Amino acid sequence: MTHDTYPTDEPAVVTCGLPYANGNLHIGHFRTYVGGDVYARALESLDQQTAFVCGSDMHGTPVAVDAKRNDEDPESLALGYYRDHKALFPQFNVEFDEYGHTRQQTNVDLTKQIVLTLEERGYIVEREIPVAYDPVADQSLPDRYVEGTCPYCGSKARGDECDEGCGRHLEPGEIEDPVSTITGNDAEYRERTHKFFRLSDLQDYLQAFIERVEGTDNAKHQPREWIFGELEDWCITRDIDWGIDYPGELPDGGDRLVLYVWVDAPVEYIATTKQYSERVGADTYDWESAWQDDGEIVHVIGRDIIQHHTVFWPALLHATDYNEPRAVLASGFMTLDGKGFSKSRGRAIWAQEYLDEGFHPDLLRYYLMTTGGFQQDVDFSWEKFSEKVNNDLVGTLGNFLYRSLLFAHRNFGGTPEADPSETVRTRIEDAIEAFETAVNEYTVREIGTTAVELARFGNEYIQTNEPWTLTDSDPERAAQVIRDCVQLAKAIAVLLEPVAPEKSQALWEQLNEDGSVHDQTVQAALDPPSREFDAPAELFEPLEDERVEQLNAKLDERIQEVSGEAAASSEASGDEPAEIEPLADERVSMGTFEAFDLRVGEIQSAEPIPESDHLAKLMVDIGHETRQIVAGIKQLHDVETLSGTRIVVVANLEPATLMGHESNGMLLAAGEQADLLTTIGDAPPGTRIH
Ligand code: MF3
Ligand code: ZN
Repeated sequence: MTHDTYPTDEPAVVTCGLPYANGNLHIGHFRTYVGGDVYARALESLDQQTAFVCGSDMHGTPVAVDAKRNDEDPESLALGYYRDHKALFPQFNVEFDEYGHTRQQTNVDLTKQIVLTLEERGYIVEREIPVAYDPVADQSLPDRYVEGTCPYCGSKARGDECDEGCGRHLEPGEIEDPVSTITGNDAEYRERTHKFFRLSDLQDYLQAFIERVEGTDNAKHQPREWIFGELEDWCITRDIDWGIDYPGELPDGGDRLVLYVWVDAPVEYIATTKQYSERVGADTYDWESAWQDDGEIVHVIGRDIIQHHTVFWPALLHATDYNEPRAVLASGFMTLDGKGFSKSRGRAIWAQEYLDEGFHPDLLRYYLMTTGGFQQDVDFSWEKFSEKVNNDLVGTLGNFLYRSLLFAHRNFGGTPEADPSETVRTRIEDAIEAFETAVNEYTVREIGTTAVELARFGNEYIQTNEPWTLTDSDPERAAQVIRDCVQLAKAIAVLLEPVAPEKSQALWEQLNEDGSVHDQTVQAALDPPSREFDAPAELFEPLEDERVEQLNAKLDERIQEVSGEAAASSEASGDEPAEIEPLADERVSMGTFEAFDLRVGEIQSAEPIPESDHLAKLMVDIGHETRQIVAGIKQLHDVETLSGTRIVVVANLEPATLMGHESNGMLLAAGEQADLLTTIGDAPPGTRIH
C-alpha cells in the first residue's frame, strides 16, 4: 500500500462488509453497498485500477440460529440467500467484479492456510475458558445462541456483541446473566479449551497502523481505546458444527472445533479478489499484487463492525504477511421515520419492495449517499425521499438538463459552434477537483453531490444569461451560452456516473456520445460534446404527494399486520407479551402537550374500507361537528359493532388522505392491537381532554 494521492500505480481493492446469508436485505443495508459501489466507480473514473468485491457470509451463529429456528439445513438456507443477494445487488447498480461466498473452496483453503501460518509463527495459544452451555438442549451456546447483559455497559447483549449498547465485541464467557436463545433457559458456564490469537503480540503494530490508516473519522478513532488499552487475545474457535473446521491440531481430548465466523469471513475479501483475478487473468488484474505487494485496500463497512476491521483483521493480515488496509470507511446507521428498522415488527422497506414499487435504483442511491455525511446516521421516510427526488433530481438536475438540451436541439440541432467560456471551463475544472478531493478524503457524500452542484450552477447561469432573449438580438452570444450549457451537461454525465450510473448513461446517450460513460475518466468532462443530438427526454419524474401517502399507508398497514401476527402467535404459544417500549428520555413542556386539541368523540358509524386490508372509515361526533376519520383498525376490531363507543380524538391534526379517503383527525389507541381509549364517565362528545 502507498499513501499516494489517487490514482496510484498500484491496484486497488474496494470491499463491502459481507452480508450474512440469513435474511432479506432492506434499504438501510444498502448504505454500505451503494457506498462501496460509488467509491469504487469514483476511483475508476480517476483511472485507478480497481477490483470491487464482496460475498455472502455463510457461517457463524447468525446463520445457524436462523436455520434451527426454521428447522432448515444451514447450508441450504445460506445458499438460498447467497443467490438472492447476488441477484439483487446488480438491480441497484451495485456491480461487484466478483461476488462469492465463504464456503467456496478458495476461501476455505485460504482461511486454513492463514490459520496454519499463525500456528507456525507462534501466534496461537490454547486456553481453558468458561463457555455458555444449555443443560437442557445439551449443547454449547456460542455467540448468538446466548443473550445476557453486557459487562461493559449493562445493556442487553448477544453472546459476541453488545448490539444494543456500547457496540463492543464480547469474548466467550464475558456476557453476564446468560440465557439460551434456543430454550430460554439460564445457561451454565462450562470449561472448554479454545484457541486464541495472540493479539497482544501485535499491539505495537496496531498502534502504528491506527495512526496511518485512512478513511472516515469514526473508523480511525473508535478503535483507539482498545489498541492503546489492554489488548486482549482473541478467541478464534467455537464449539458448533457449522463453519470451517479448525485446521491445526485440536486440544487434548477435544473432538471438534470450528473457526469463529469472523476469521473466515474477512478472508473472503482476499478469496473473491483471487477468484476475480483467476477469471479475468492476472494481466488484467493481479490479486497477489493487490494483497501481497502494494495494493490499496479500502474496506467499506457499517459502523457496528469497526473493531473487527481495525483491530482483528489488520492483525491477522500483518501476522501472515498480507497488505494492511489503506482505508476503512464506516457508514452511519439508517432509521425509518425516526425509529430503527425492525424485521420482527415489520418496520422495514425491503430492497425488493422498493424495486417492486417501480422506483429507479439511482433515486435511492442518490438519497442514501447525499442525505447526510457517510458517517452520520440517516433517516429515511417517503416524504424525505420524495423531497430529495423532487428538489435535487427533478428540480435542479432534470430541469437544467431538459431545458438546456431542448433549447440546444431546437435552435442548433445539438451543440452550437462556439468555444466554451472561460467561466464555465473553470467551473467544470473546479468540479473535477472537488471530485478528486472527495475521493482522496473519502467523503463519499461529496462524490455524490458534485454533479448536482454543477447543475445548480447551470440553472443560475441560464437564468442570468437568458439565451431565449438572445436568439434574435445576439445569436452569437446565444450560441455561446448554449455551448456552455451543453458542456455542463456533458460534465454532469461524467461526474454523476458513480452515484447514478444508469441515469448518467441515459444522459450520455441523449448527448449522442458513444460507448459507456462508465469507461470515461473525469477529464472527459472537458472534452468537446457531439455536434448533433436529438431532443432530450426528461430523466426524472416527480413523486406526487398522493403517492407518498399511499406508500406510508402501506408501510403502516404492514407494521400493523406483522404486529397483529406476532401478537396472535404469542397468544397461541403462551409467550410473554411483547416488551414494553422504553420511556421517552426527553420531557416536554405543558405548552407542548396543550397544543394537542384532544376531545371526547362518539363513533356514529364505522365501516371497513373494502380496498384496504386494515383501514376502516369512522364518522365521529366531536361535539361541534362530525368528522370522518380513517384508522388502521379493520382487522383488530369488529368494526360494525363500534358505533356508540366513546373514544379520544386528536382534533387539530392536519387532515391526511389514506388510500384515497380523507382522514380528518386521529383516534388514540394503545399498543399494536389498537386497544381504543375511551372514557369511564359520561363526558359528552366534544369535551376537551386535559
Ligand atoms: N457478516 C458480517 C456482518 O453482517 C460482516 C462480515 S464482514 C467481513 O456483520 F469482514 F467479515 F467480511
Ligand atoms: Zn455494552
